[in-house]
Amino acid sequence: MQRELILDEFQNTMRHIAAAVYAITTTVEGKRYGIVATAVSSVSFDPPSLLICINQDASVHAPLMEADIFCVNVLGLANRDVADCFMAKKGEDRFEIGEWADQMGVPVLANAQSSLICKTVDRHSFGTHTIFIGELIGAQHRDNAKPLTYYDRRYIDISAAPDQVAG
Ligand SMILES: Cc1cc2nc3c(=O)[nH]c(=O)nc-3n(C[C@H](O)[C@H](O)[C@H](O)COP(=O)(O)O)c2cc1C
Repeated sequence: MQRELILDEFQNTMRHIAAAVYAITTTVEGKRYGIVATAVSSVSFDPPSLLICINQDASVHAPLMEADIFCVNVLGLANRDVADCFMAKKGEDRFEIGEWADQMGVPVLANAQSSLICKTVDRHSFGTHTIFIGELIGAQHRDNAKPLTYYDRRYIDISAAPDQVAG
């Protein structure tokens, strides 16, 4: 298969996989940095750990290379405004929307669905991205939250029609 065709099919495939939306944040020398991301996965329960994949061209990349700690804020439907603000603004201005608290030296979104604070334990460069592996050092979760989900290049509410699921 031709490279362009494979890439095309890959992008179409990924577009049709519903994904949770995260605001990944860190602080370096008192300055906050953040990015909206979907490339996040749990890695292991022992130790509790997860990975994030960040484009090396993204403004948060250099700070993440420098920082020891980052936070994966799992966004709920109520945090759509935060996702929009992160995409519309740059640098510190990304934190204009939402109530951000400083916990363990990183920005944590007070009303996120969950917040997972990680210590960076490994970094791997692959292609255009760096995979950061983080070991959990702090976590909080809200049971009643509804997840913000990205599907087919737009945000959707997967909690809207749960009884329509087959099986
Ligand atoms: C729903 C969504 C998911 C995204 N997921 C990722 C991701 O997992 N990793 C990544 O590096 N960029 C991801 N991006 C792109 C970054 O959010 C965006 O390119 C970045 O904020 C721009 O970089 P800047 O900080 O240099 O302006 C995603 C964007 C959207 C809208």
